Amino acid sequence: MVLMVLPLIGSVSVSEVLVALTTACLVYLMVRYFYTEIPAGLRRLPGPTPLPIIGNVLEIGRRPYLSLTAMSKRYGDVFQIQIGTRPVIVLSGIETVRQALVKQGEEFSSRPDLYSFRFINEGKSLSFSTDQAGVWRARRKLAYNALRSFSTLQGTTPEYSCMLEEHICKEGEYLVNRLSSVLQADGRFEPFPHIVVSVANVICGMCFGRRYDHDDQELVSLVNLSNEFGKVVSSGNPADFIPALRFLLSSTMKSFVDLNTRFTTFVQKIVNEHYATFDKENIRDITDSLIDHCEDRKLDENSNIQVSDEKIVGIVNDLFGAGFDTVSTALSWSIMYLVTYPDVQERLYQELKSNVDQNRKPRLSDKPNLPLLEAFILELFRHSSFLPFTIPHCEQWEDPSSFNPDRFLSADGTEVNKAEGEKVTTFGMGKRRCIGEIIARNEVYLFLAILIQRLQFLPIPGETVDMTPEYGLTMKHKDCRLKARMRTRDEQ
Ligand code: HEM
Repeated sequence: MVLMVLPLIGSVSVSEVLVALTTACLVYLMVRYFYTEIPAGLRRLPGPTPLPIIGNVLEIGRRPYLSLTAMSKRYGDVFQIQIGTRPVIVLSGIETVRQALVKQGEEFSSRPDLYSFRFINEGKSLSFSTDQAGVWRARRKLAYNALRSFSTLQGTTPEYSCMLEEHICKEGEYLVNRLSSVLQADGRFEPFPHIVVSVANVICGMCFGRRYDHDDQELVSLVNLSNEFGKVVSSGNPADFIPALRFLLSSTMKSFVDLNTRFTTFVQKIVNEHYATFDKENIRDITDSLIDHCEDRKLDENSNIQVSDEKIVGIVNDLFGAGFDTVSTALSWSIMYLVTYPDVQERLYQELKSNVDQNRKPRLSDKPNLPLLEAFILELFRHSSFLPFTIPHCEQWEDPSSFNPDRFLSADGTEVNKAEGEKVTTFGMGKRRCIGEIIARNEVYLFLAILIQRLQFLPIPGETVDMTPEYGLTMKHKDCRLKARMRTRDEQ
């Protein structure tokens, strides 16, 4: 073979030899770059073989929650894939995930340092930041305390047990009236666009002490951005996984940067107004309480972690961002399930009717008397798994694909089975577990109780309700028009 090649060399020009040598060097460097050296004594994780540059993106496809589940059946609970040029370890199975996030919580408490995360909240995001020098920890604690103290604060009148209840009850009433007028005008409605404004108003109330009208274009356009945001963050921006692409600013990336700027500008304006009218003796909302905290820290020379004024914007921005899309998605899916399972909807209505006087609105204190509603919410979290990467493993459940709230009830249906409920891990686990969990659970419960008491949700005759989710940070249902009927107070 060598002998056969030698005579050919004479007919090749110097420049051709140089091109060939350069190509060979590039191939060699690429192979070295993609080949991850495994430290001695450790073995390579199982997983599909990656292609150069793109890795396994073709196998992952558009529905990663399904393709990765299929891969876990083939490669086991711990396997490796490659997205672009980045190696990614995939964990599945409740015990494996618990081992990593809870038992080895410290090691797994960080986030990957992705390029697009630098544009979220100007790189100061609590939810998306890696923990540098304990800053995430300090911000998380601050945000958690602010959320807790403002949701449990006394309502403005004794009618409400706390501020959170007051905000939800008032927004629930506005929502019912809004749906009633849309139904009168059009005879049908789309759940998500109305719900998202009501839920955003609850978090706006707590963070900024204000609410917006359902037709307020500034808020409506802002809350609609969350869908685009979720698509980039969850499906991955190519520049996160192929560093060379950072230099080619794609249109997706441009709109991602733009939407983050719009979000921050919205919050910044409100925070500035709060600074201008700040009164230490009258802390009005979460923004005020964070400003107050910063003022104290400036005076406290011993404090080791300073939270600067600009980070206040970051924290409020995070709470606002995390606080409306998730809850709205849960509520919007709830309506879809009520329509798809009318017998469950009727049982929920009857439960409310027997336990809450028709002449008053449901309250947080009614929760222990409404076990079916609580079981319905647990089953909604489990069955929809709308946060795709907190999917509880199927083997934990009997007949996992059927929607059956009764699986969470005691045999006589009077109590929620707490042990079963704890297997639903929608809020994550470990050090990064959701800090809005209590607020979120209360919001989903109380909004639903108010809606079910006042409205009966129905499909449009002749139209099917499509329950196929669309992939995103929170998986939403497709746009869907429904009917609803206002309940009369004396109906059976
Ligand atoms: C049904 C509603 C909600 C669900 C299902 C949900 C779920 C989650 C999940 C799965 C995480 C990530 C956990 C992890 O990385 O391991 C998370 C993080 C977070 N959630 Fe929620 N959430 C909800 C509502 C809320 C609300 C209402 C707020 C605030 C008011 C909130 C604030 C946050 C924050 C700030 C983080 C980031 C925590 C960190 O990185 O340290 N969430 N949530």
